[in-house]
Amino acid sequence: MAAGPLQIGLNYALHIREERVSSRSDACRLLYVSDIHLRKGRADTLCRQVLESVIRSNPDAVLLGGDLVDQRSELPNLTRMVGTLNAIAPVLAIGGNHDRQLGMDSVREAVTRGGGHWIHDRVARVMHRGRVIAVSGPDTPPNDEGHVRVLCAHNPRIWKTSRHAGFDLVLAGHLHGCQLVACQYRDRLFPGALFYPYCFLSRRSGSSRLVVSRGVSDLLAIRWRCPREVVLCHV
Ligand SMILES: [Fe+2]
Repeated sequence: MAAGPLQIGLNYALHIREERVSSRSDACRLLYVSDIHLRKGRADTLCRQVLESVIRSNPDAVLLGGDLVDQRSELPNLTRMVGTLNAIAPVLAIGGNHDRQLGMDSVREAVTRGGGHWIHDRVARVMHRGRVIAVSGPDTPPNDEGHVRVLCAHNPRIWKTSRHAGFDLVLAGHLHGCQLVACQYRDRLFPGALFYPYCFLSRRSGSSRLVVSRGVSDLLAIRWRCPREVVLCHV
């Protein structure tokens, strides 16, 4: 049921938030999808909504930003989802803290079985109109590849070290517990910012930009002024 910006349950289409790192008309479109949290009883809905968001946003690549799956029983659903998305655009994926709990190797296998690329510790090159978009994962060794450099991460804490590492764009999610937003002061969202220092949507440092997604799903399906979302980045 809806009450203005209040969302209870998962019966809402995902919001597609757009972030423009480049203003060029032929920018590469990267769709960042984080915190899907596949679990029993909700995987079908979440997979369908992610697929719909990909169809609507028509990306050049889909970046899965971790916390993909919460339960071992849902690994086949992850494989199916990656397979379906991969038929539309290449899928690059990393793991998050929930994936680590479940077993990073199992999640990586589920992704690669669906035809996705596991980039948690490596760099993927997305070729786009003569440019190389280099997408690194959180554990990728330092490199200076690509015309555009993107870090696909999960925990925004990585901004502390990555802000000076020469990335054009750093992507993170990991909203955990901050899905009720009463107000915004400067760029911080409250009350979440009282106990979670990375409770904001975007930051800049020199030519580097951090974008934090509000994510696809949470443990508790209730949100206020904090839409479930995917982020379409123009780079
Ligand atoms: Fe997380």
